[in-house]
Amino acid sequence: MSSHVATKKVFKLIAEEAYRQKYGLEMIPSENYVSADVLKALGSILTNKYSEGFPGRRYYGGNEVIDKIENYAVDLAKKLFGVPAAFVQSYSGSPANMAITMAVCEPGDVVMGLALSSGGHLTHGAHLSFSSIFYSAVNYSVGKDWKIDFKELETLAKKHKPKLIWVGTTAYPFKLDYKKFRKIADMVNATLVADCSHITGLIIGGVHESPVPYVDIVMTTTHKTLRGPRGAMILITERGLRKDPEMKGKIERAIIPGIQGGPHNHQTAAIAVSLEEALKPSFKKYAAQIAKNASVLAKELGTVSETHLILLSLTKYGYGMGYQAQYALEEAGITVNKNTIPGEPASPFYPSGIRLGTPALTSRGMKGSDMIKIAGWIKRVLEEIRGLDLPKEQDKRKDFLKEVKKEIHKNKNLKIIRKEVEKFAGKFPVPGIK
Ligand SMILES: Cc1ncc(COP(=O)(O)O)c(C=O)c1O
Repeated sequence: MSSHVATKKVFKLIAEEAYRQKYGLEMIPSENYVSADVLKALGSILTNKYSEGFPGRRYYGGNEVIDKIENYAVDLAKKLFGVPAAFVQSYSGSPANMAITMAVCEPGDVVMGLALSSGGHLTHGAHLSFSSIFYSAVNYSVGKDWKIDFKELETLAKKHKPKLIWVGTTAYPFKLDYKKFRKIADMVNATLVADCSHITGLIIGGVHESPVPYVDIVMTTTHKTLRGPRGAMILITERGLRKDPEMKGKIERAIIPGIQGGPHNHQTAAIAVSLEEALKPSFKKYAAQIAKNASVLAKELGTVSETHLILLSLTKYGYGMGYQAQYALEEAGITVNKNTIPGEPASPFYPSGIRLGTPALTSRGMKGSDMIKIAGWIKRVLEEIRGLDLPKEQDKRKDFLKEVKKEIHKNKNLKIIRKEVEKFAGKFPVPGIK
């Protein structure tokens, strides 16, 4: 294939994806729409440059401008969070968490994080993740009320004496009590690290309390509620530097040569642009609207949210309905993800819930009244899959879901809903898409 044909193909596919992003309802809570300026920086010639090392200490020449860009991004990050040290080179959230773990722990040390099945992240000690392969992972969980069980957390911490405790979530609709985490971390002299990837925008906007006064280190991805490019930042707090004055060097060495090579300078520049945007007063309004929208949507769907996301149990529609719901909603132009619910009654692969959120919709200017309409479509879609319960016998599930997908694909009511959704969504501008 000539490069011209290949390029044409790629741009045709990008146009197809732009259509999907514009005419659908993007409700995966970890996603967002970046601004045209963020896209411009991300698509810039900065991608051409190699800059292994840190500003003023690079392995290659020609980094005079790159140094200024990285220093600017670091300064903005420090200002936005009120911290003495920031790092912006991690390629994404998972390598940033790996760098923190390497900086704080020796291989085999105990790390503690919220269980995946309770809404935690893979890198906080989940099975098959580096965090449980190279470290001794202990997981705490949520109780019957779906909230973090601090009694269990304290008991586990006292028993296992973790070197590092993670406070951070990926599918948890409640606010986090950092003070309680700090108390437990102090009992066992653990380094407390907040991974606020999902809720950073809410913290900057003042909707959620900042973890900075309570924790030693903060990690955040930059592409979720913060509305920047894919990437991550690591921040050390005053408290963290007091606990370990060597931490800055340890984190630098973990990033390079520990894990990474050359930083993605186009990404660093785009992070700087998104941090400039997050420092504007309009970002506070945006953050407040994300939470307002999530709260309205949750109420309409019969549950609660104190964040940007909703974890919806579908047990009232049948057994193991998450997969069927994700597929049917996608057919109707609504993108969510299937998710386990605490105490999952079905299976991690074919779970009983869905996870959905409002950051991307809010970036398009949608408000509470729009959430009521969207909840209406979601409920209509869920009625269409009622009765399509997952077989209890594991060997029947694959064939069953193949048939269910065919059935859902042919469903006339879902096609009607899709038309309504497309007409509605198309009216809202998408930042970065003409
Ligand atoms: C809490 C949390 N930490 C870390 C990550 C990892 O980020 P990435 O997907 O950029 O590696 C995620 C991503 O979903 C997350 O939710």
